[in-house]
Amino acid sequence: MSVSARPEAAAAAEGTPEELLFQPYRLGPYDLPHRIVMAPLTRSRARQPGNVPGPLNACYYVQRASAALIISEATQVSMQGQGYAWTPGIHSREQVEGWRLVTEAVHRAGGRIFNQLWHVGRISHPCLQPDYMLPVAPSAIKPSGMAFIENENGEGELVPFVTPRALQIEEMPYLVRQYFRGARNAMRGLRRRRDPRRQRLSAGAVHRFRHQSARRPVWRSGPEPGAAADGSGRDGD
Ligand SMILES: Cc1cc2nc3c(=O)[nH]c(=O)nc-3n(C[C@H](O)[C@H](O)[C@H](O)COP(=O)(O)O)c2cc1C
Repeated sequence: MSVSARPEAAAAAEGTPEELLFQPYRLGPYDLPHRIVMAPLTRSRARQPGNVPGPLNACYYVQRASAALIISEATQVSMQGQGYAWTPGIHSREQVEGWRLVTEAVHRAGGRIFNQLWHVGRISHPCLQPDYMLPVAPSAIKPSGMAFIENENGEGELVPFVTPRALQIEEMPYLVRQYFRGARNAMRGLRRRRDPRRQRLSAGAVHRFRHQSARRPVWRSGPEPGAAADGSGRDGD
């Protein structure tokens, strides 16, 4: 993503394009010191289990905090929304705490960071989905290409995509809610640390999430799996 200068701002700015690049820019409520924006880059480095951002991610973003604005790597709004191994989510309490670690470190280094939310639809695989369900899509059409998954040895592996399950119209509000929850969690992640009583609660949520992620099966090569019975793709937290 890049932030293009508004025409009036560009007209007001003086100098060559290179000089313009280093002039400040007002982006909504944010004062950017220059106009170089870091594009979102999937890194597949979230801590396991649970796809939780941690110190490695904080270090990566702090090293890039001199960008006027960082757009984070794409971040799934639900387990159903994950499409690549080890990408971070923003749907569990533990993930929100992880993002708080990242954003606080970036802010301390003088940077600004926005979270890019995603739900990958059919660009996924049952072994990335809760309870080995099929990925969902507008239509049951198999994408060409390969999915990046974690194999039984804990290594990254490319495997063919499967035919997704077509979403029902009635499911759409649930998808919208996943994004709503992701956006709300991203904003919570920027707030101050909660009081100790709330942090004790979050330890319970961490346990619950670990238990949940333990249900995710390991991928073994074989025939294309069928749709899960309930097909809802719901996940908690
Ligand atoms: C390794 C890699 C990971 C990427 N991850 C994301 C991502 O998470 N979200 C996204 O919107 N774009 C992603 N992109 C696309 C980049 O943000 C960027 O748009 C693309 O590399 C084209 O940039 P360019 O026109 O400056 O070459 C990724 C690209 C690469 C090479």
